[in-house]
Amino acid sequence: MNQFCSGVWCGGFGSPEVITPVGVFRAADAPDAPPLEDGAVLPFWRGDIISRETGRGFVVEIPMKNEEGFYGFGLQFHAFNHAGRRRFMKVNSDPVTDTGESHAPVPFYVSTTGYGLLVDTFRYVTFYLGTNGAKGSSKNCTEPVKEHKEFSEQSLYALKKAKNERCVLIEIPNCEGADIYFFEGPSMLDAVRRYNLFSGGGCLPPLWALGNWYRMYGGSDQRQVLKLAEQFRESKIPVDVIGLEPGWHTHSYSCTYLWNKNLYPEPEVLMEKLNKQGYHINLWEHVFVHPLSELYEKLEEHSGDYEVWGGLVPDLADKKTQDIFGGYHRERFIDKGISGFKLDECDNSDFNPSAWSFPDLSSFPSGLDGEQMHSALGLLYQKTIEGAFRDRGLRTFGGVRSSWALAAGSPFVLYSDLYDHRQFVRALINAGFSGLLWSPEVRSCENSEDFIRRLQTVVFSPQSLLNCWRIPNPPWFQTDIAKNLAGEPMPERDSIIAITRKYLELRMRLVPYLYSSFWRYRLEGLPPVRALALDYQDDERTHAIDDQFMLGDSLLIAPVFRGEKSRSIFLPSGGWYDFWTHERFDGGRALVYDAPLDIIPVFVKSGVILPLADSTQCVEEHTLFRLTLLCFGSGEKHFTLYEDDGTSLACEEGKYNTVVLTQDAEGGIAAVRNGMEAPRYDVKEWKYVDCGILL
Ligand code: GAL
Repeated sequence: MNQFCSGVWCGGFGSPEVITPVGVFRAADAPDAPPLEDGAVLPFWRGDIISRETGRGFVVEIPMKNEEGFYGFGLQFHAFNHAGRRRFMKVNSDPVTDTGESHAPVPFYVSTTGYGLLVDTFRYVTFYLGTNGAKGSSKNCTEPVKEHKEFSEQSLYALKKAKNERCVLIEIPNCEGADIYFFEGPSMLDAVRRYNLFSGGGCLPPLWALGNWYRMYGGSDQRQVLKLAEQFRESKIPVDVIGLEPGWHTHSYSCTYLWNKNLYPEPEVLMEKLNKQGYHINLWEHVFVHPLSELYEKLEEHSGDYEVWGGLVPDLADKKTQDIFGGYHRERFIDKGISGFKLDECDNSDFNPSAWSFPDLSSFPSGLDGEQMHSALGLLYQKTIEGAFRDRGLRTFGGVRSSWALAAGSPFVLYSDLYDHRQFVRALINAGFSGLLWSPEVRSCENSEDFIRRLQTVVFSPQSLLNCWRIPNPPWFQTDIAKNLAGEPMPERDSIIAITRKYLELRMRLVPYLYSSFWRYRLEGLPPVRALALDYQDDERTHAIDDQFMLGDSLLIAPVFRGEKSRSIFLPSGGWYDFWTHERFDGGRALVYDAPLDIIPVFVKSGVILPLADSTQCVEEHTLFRLTLLCFGSGEKHFTLYEDDGTSLACEEGKYNTVVLTQDAEGGIAAVRNGMEAPRYDVKEWKYVDCGILL
């Protein structure tokens, strides 16, 4: 095994393929991994790994401990700790059961023994995580045989791990070998950070992208879009980004990328008016190019040999194709004021009766086959569109339906509306193990209780998104709201609107905190949304928690689901403060929290400074955030605010400020700005919560 960079090792097994994620997606100048802590070594060595070629492909066996837990594998909805399961890394837009398939599977995991592993391939890899011992390995099992007492299917087929000799069995089909990368710990969080930095560091969204997003009804026209946008401003509903859905194209499945002049007769006027009110505009599309698109002819020879929905599948693994596709977007849209795109349906559907997308047997001019392209397409598409913005010195942030390995630096958030709220939350937490971002978007809801509960989650996620493509009116105007699950009457509409406003405003108040958290993602590989098992790995009680998460360093969020009025919350050791009441709680225990409809449980870690801004309707070029700095608990504390122009790539050239906030044990406070850029933050006041300081 060779040391690739600090804390990252590469093992070549068999004859690896030529086109792989590391070759395609990893920038040569990716930042260094964090420095090693003592004792951070891999729990095995090259000699412990077995590999062989088979008639079907290539197999690698990694040693595994009995109690070992595994997290990651990309965007997973159905499971959290994957030990004892089989994970099939295939891009699939309808992963209805727990197979490992997903919009964004990633052949990367982290183990509780303190390492991460990436299989560098675009193949449909299968991981067997201790499910099967080799023939004969159970013969000498010393565990006493347990008589079956229950004969339900559930009990007979219950998740069973192999006994005795166990390993992680990795099968990579259709190839003769692969490079495998190992990321050292000592903790899972260290391994995740190394992986993110190896990918190039996390993404830094433009500042405006951290505000609220509203995607319009698919059938909206120019007049309706402008009307709703005006209403948001009049009724003080903070929204930063307006998204247009398929209707803006003359033809959308496949896409023409041409304005539909029947619905949008004057797109320039629309853009100008929206921009003037402080909105950014995001356009829906997918990558399949309709014959009536101006791109069709140019891309014909740069596409795969099968169509999707009657459109070309551009070979975005080829630089020339990227230039044609990206260049069109740059000149037609970005230069005219469009701030981003929603890249839909770059995953493929196998189990949907209409089974859309190109077949695995397709071939592309770059040399990729259909199997490889299915894995690669989502991230290639993201890179192509991001590249078009970078050419203009701009950052973007958008939505995407598919991704793969090494995506941490890509400024796109995954979404899909196929799941329930619990699955949305699990996916949000799981995404942070493998360099992905997920939006638990609010869409058409069961009732207004469901709407509020989803809204309360989404404002604490990487993208605060209301995806109303199916409903003509905003979800707070939903009328089927009379009763909740318990048969109790729901609040009046005015009260629903007031709760909506409270949470959308809260999101705006968190923008500086979130922006600073994303900066750490970029610089240190620290994901902005993390499982408790990452921050508190030493406490095994956190290892199964898939419905609470850390947002940034200081906030613990515990979503409440439709039908619930209270929930059990585990607080890791240390002190915690209720965000709403500032009541102090001792950690290291579970507690039951009452959560009426207008409350989502949020706890602030003791010993932090939490910056909260005055809410604004949107983030504009010169928005100056007025900050209240809340100091929680006793002792010295710090927070580093990140500050830059909010939109350009100048930050990559070092054009940014940091504002180091400090409160010492005696109550002495300081806000020290380093850097020459114009300030974005203005400290309004410091507030002390249980700091032991007499004022
Ligand atoms: C779906 C997507 C929705 C919406 C819709 C428009 O694929 O998940 O969010 O954009 O397409 O047709």
